[in-house]
Amino acid sequence: MISTTNTLSAGAGLSNFALIKKAESCHSLTKEEIIKLLEDNSINNNLFNVADNVRKQFVGDDVHLRALIEFSNICKCNCKYCGIRKDNNCIERYRMTEEEIISLAKLAKDLDYKTVVLQSGEDAFFSTEKLCKIIEQIKKLNLAVTLSIGEKTYQEYKDYKEAGADRYLLRIETTNRNLYEQMHPNMSFENRINCLNNLKELGYETGTGCLVGLPLQTVDSLAEDILFFKKLNADMVGLGPFIPAPNTPLQNEQGGDLTLALKVMAITRLLLPDINIPATTAMETLHPDGRIFALKSGANVVMPNITNINYKKKYTIYPGKAGENISAESHKKTVVDKIKSIGRNISQNYGFRTKV
Ligand code: 5AD
Repeated sequence: MISTTNTLSAGAGLSNFALIKKAESCHSLTKEEIIKLLEDNSINNNLFNVADNVRKQFVGDDVHLRALIEFSNICKCNCKYCGIRKDNNCIERYRMTEEEIISLAKLAKDLDYKTVVLQSGEDAFFSTEKLCKIIEQIKKLNLAVTLSIGEKTYQEYKDYKEAGADRYLLRIETTNRNLYEQMHPNMSFENRINCLNNLKELGYETGTGCLVGLPLQTVDSLAEDILFFKKLNADMVGLGPFIPAPNTPLQNEQGGDLTLALKVMAITRLLLPDINIPATTAMETLHPDGRIFALKSGANVVMPNITNINYKKKYTIYPGKAGENISAESHKKTVVDKIKSIGRNISQNYGFRTKV
């Protein structure tokens, strides 16, 4: 016999198991329904399994690898959670030369990656001209190029696109305007949204995402985040738990919860079944198998970091970043072995979104 708690919720409407089933077939949930799923931990295994099924059905067993290059930790922003924020005087700053960036892109090519992700703080040294030159050279290697370099003007995004950039990552971080404004001094929520709309309009594969577990963040706000990803029709969604970083205003706050981050990710997979979702480094930082949990709960992308060790250890967005002390070669091998050990394949193509 099926117990009533499994079929009917206390008030009205569907049980949480039935909600998951509904989302599996219709790919839609209301805000209230998402909140119910986020608040109920008895459904977690079912939620993760169903998200895994939806992943398999829509994007298959291939895992796309993207080689991450952290080319500058110099940043003009002061995001309260971020370890490379401008006012953190306790870290050593670096910026790679153009030659260093290109040589890492060549390493990515040699290691059989199909995509490089160029990530940095918001560093004005890298003018549009400099960046376009770098993008053009990397494109000549037949690699897809993803940028993750923050808020820029429409014209700048257009120039990078014309130079060959394929994708852009810009997390909304939180869709709660108050929280956004508290977390991002001197930044504008509207501008963040405008940037994302501009990227979409310019034809980028656009990635966004949020932090899970910011101080004062609520499940209500996480539900809004998920609905925002859907409304934007994001092509990629990356999210992870907030991890307090030393020498930031949030250094003594409580960090985010891995399970909750996995749940937000799994629900995102149910609602956006054909997008690319990375198993993020922040998840691996909280648990040695964090990425594997993610890959089994809706994720289909991994972004191994190929930045040289000397630089990588200075790119301290948060402490204890997984894979900090190993070389690009051994990191790739570890990641590939782990992926294969759970019966998944390494993708041999560029891994663009195939809209279903
Ligand atoms: N903990 C977890 N993630 C963080 N990020 C920045 N700081 C932290 C932190 N302390 C994330 C942001 C940003 C991405 C590059 O790293 O979401 O978009």
